[in-house]
Amino acid sequence: MRLERSLEKLARQAIADALGVDAPPLLKPANPAHGDYQVNGALPLAKEQQRPPRELATKVAERLAGEPMLAAAEVAGAGFVNLRLHPTWVAEQLLAMARDAEHEGVPPADQLQRVVVDFSGPNIAKQMHVGHLRSTIIGDAICRLLRFVGHTVIGDNHLGDFGTQFGLLIVGVREFGSEAALAADAIEELERVYKLATAKSKDDPSFAEAARLELAKLQRGDADNRALWQRFIAATRVELDKIYGRLDIHFDAWLGESAYETLLPGVVKELEAKGLARQDQGALCVFFEDEPELGKSPFIVQKKDGAFLYATTDIATVLYRRDHFHADRAIYVVDQRQSLHFKQLFSVMKKLGVPMELSHVGFGSVLGKDGKPLKTRDGQVIRLSALLDEAETRAAARMREEGLSLDETQITELAPIVGIGAVKYADLMQNRLSDYHFDWDKMISFKGNAGPYLQYAYARIQAIFRKGEIDPKSLASTQALTLAHDAELALGKQLLRFADVVHQAAEQSAPHLLCDHLYALARLFSLFYEACPVLRAEPAERTGRLLLCWLAARQMRTGLGLLGIAVPERM
Ligand code: ARG
Repeated sequence: MRLERSLEKLARQAIADALGVDAPPLLKPANPAHGDYQVNGALPLAKEQQRPPRELATKVAERLAGEPMLAAAEVAGAGFVNLRLHPTWVAEQLLAMARDAEHEGVPPADQLQRVVVDFSGPNIAKQMHVGHLRSTIIGDAICRLLRFVGHTVIGDNHLGDFGTQFGLLIVGVREFGSEAALAADAIEELERVYKLATAKSKDDPSFAEAARLELAKLQRGDADNRALWQRFIAATRVELDKIYGRLDIHFDAWLGESAYETLLPGVVKELEAKGLARQDQGALCVFFEDEPELGKSPFIVQKKDGAFLYATTDIATVLYRRDHFHADRAIYVVDQRQSLHFKQLFSVMKKLGVPMELSHVGFGSVLGKDGKPLKTRDGQVIRLSALLDEAETRAAARMREEGLSLDETQITELAPIVGIGAVKYADLMQNRLSDYHFDWDKMISFKGNAGPYLQYAYARIQAIFRKGEIDPKSLASTQALTLAHDAELALGKQLLRFADVVHQAAEQSAPHLLCDHLYALARLFSLFYEACPVLRAEPAERTGRLLLCWLAARQMRTGLGLLGIAVPERM
């Protein structure tokens, strides 16, 4: 049940009945001292009808009085109506939620779509950097959210596996490569070779020329070069798979740039035939003269030497997703710095008459203590595997310091769940467009708004069930819930907001809304648990309180699950 939607419908009907017009109720969360939600719709209507706003608001409030959903509807301020949910109604909804263990009361979206989520997209023969980590974490959460509300999702890893660097890599590996090093850590070895080859190509024109020739051979399909290139990809994949495995992140498709290679000449032909692209200084370009906001630089689809570019591949990719996946929508989870590229791409697709809904879900940078993009102390790109190792070590250390009743075996088992959960949560809790500071102490914390705090809140509830020897599933058939205590009611109302939040997070590609909700839920649970004894409660109250515990734990587990974060059963 989507709470805000139900209230909106009710308020809209009340406005229609009381004032004889169909108008938006302008529902907003209220100042908690005065109500749960407020209806602001009477204000603009009063202006239109030139009548006192409080008079109109009073009529709406009178019409709302006595509705089973509401305990109160009161006129306040300039002419809005404060609504308070009825405890009996809240309790009924919670009982219904208890029976819906699969969806936690979250109904499917109105229009189910086929959505491609393009995320992660690291580059072959290069270390995945922190920017790819953000794309990976945010993209995965978006996939999970969209799936949960019923969409068909195709998570696609658009690997950078095609490009001019392969000429240098081929000559480099032949000259400087070590088989043993390639087997031990492919990415490290390929990066080493690439650096040497780049340096040499600068001093030695014949070496640079050789690299260009090898690239051209590769592109013409030369068997040896193809085989070598395939090896670079396969070896990089092994490293990438380790990282994705640790992150518990999976893709439905791995269609890198090279998958579209054969489609590129056709794309360019179509652009020319439709008069969308023209030659400029030897290159083929799409210009955006009629769209000044897309910048002065054109979208280059073919270089002077005939080579295709990132842009050409992205156009082919949209067409492929339309034809092959029958996608209604594609979401690109890519660094905000590529925003112009995507604006231009989307404009080209519109000009080509492709009806797919295309959105760029951008994100800001991860900053170090010095406020500059995160690097190692000696200015190197941070290796993701090292970062995840550190997260686990720090998580284990933190658990020891916290004095949790865990032995070393349990700490070792929990370290990846807590460490990696903390890294994911720290990323997802930000409004994705803002830059954020990478701060281990804040991230791996059992106190503030952090992953471990929420995981601990979940484990603590499980401990209640263990202590009381209660099988929480037996609570699903609970018949009565009174919510007599304020803290019970506040927790109950927060639980009912889940469906709204999940839908908003999915629609707006905004996982941080779900983080905010879960953090507020954990805090309200603590307040409830301080104020209301559970296992020691009178029998009449005990079952209801246990039910609240169970619903809170379930929502925490499902909500964190939608963020790609696991929960420990004990901590
Ligand atoms: N490989 C690209 C990069 O590292 C990201 C790919 C994003 N996806 C896309 N369809 N352009 O910047």
